[in-house]
Amino acid sequence: MLLTGTDALTDAAREGRAIPGFVAYNLETVQGIVAAAEASDTPVLLQAGSSAFKHAGREALMGLALDAARRSPAPIGVHLDHSRDLDEIAACVDAGYTSVMVDGSHLPFAENIVLTRQAVRRAHAAGVWVEAELGALAGDEDVSTGATAPGSSMTDPAQAAEFVAATGIDALAVAVGNVHGFTTEPVRLDLPRLERIRAAVPVPLVLHGASGLPEPQLLGAVRRGVAKVNVNAELRRAYLAAVASTLPDATGGADVVATWGGGPGRGGGHGPPDRRATGVGGRGLIPHPAPSRPQSICGSAA
Ligand code: 13P
Repeated sequence: MLLTGTDALTDAAREGRAIPGFVAYNLETVQGIVAAAEASDTPVLLQAGSSAFKHAGREALMGLALDAARRSPAPIGVHLDHSRDLDEIAACVDAGYTSVMVDGSHLPFAENIVLTRQAVRRAHAAGVWVEAELGALAGDEDVSTGATAPGSSMTDPAQAAEFVAATGIDALAVAVGNVHGFTTEPVRLDLPRLERIRAAVPVPLVLHGASGLPEPQLLGAVRRGVAKVNVNAELRRAYLAAVASTLPDATGGADVVATWGGGPGRGGGHGPPDRRATGVGGRGLIPHPAPSRPQSICGSAA
């Protein structure tokens, strides 16, 4: 079912939990995320777009993410991640997305406010909640660059308060030493800064770059008001590892449906799963996040 509104987010913030936002690129990653949401019975945000629209096509990916969320018994929000484009935001809002992230973090402060305000006006008119970012993260949303966090562009607590008040956003993505993608050295978050941000702003906080983050750091962030954590690189790695291990076995005559995991091994009723036919763990190329990470963050971090 579609998870709409901010209640799940604000409940999570109040109860010291976080909702995972998982990035999806295609049919198989959408299916994997939905399967994990159903297995773990927790609210999940399925983050479909904006970079993935270039691969899958906006209408196609929007449609399959929304359809998968609506059909699932699990509460699943469909979220637009990292968009700088007001037309794209409007298209997702019109299609039925339950939340959007407007990313003006690359802009000077005043311009970030202007862009974010426009997105908020558009989204709120349709009952869609908005996440925005202040401060800049190192790394890349779609590949692991081994980046380290720059010390200079972390979120300033006083500026964060001004930003939230001026824009009316529902959730604030922070830069507190977090990095997109896997890093060569373990990331250490500036948790005291996170505490100051939490004390300064009235909305739940979002932590991007959760992949590879040491568990104590992640739980420390959740304890300090992070109510949504974004995970991409860990799922990407699982998906690509499944692709790499499965495709060498597929010949020109192989069954594409079975190779991609849509038949045997997915309850297709064609007999017992076979690793060669259905891919890794009998699940084909569908990543099975069932992540230790989401379970630990979805439960109370107190
Ligand atoms: P990771 O790839 O580090 O998990 O970051 C994901 C993210 O923040 C997507 O917005």
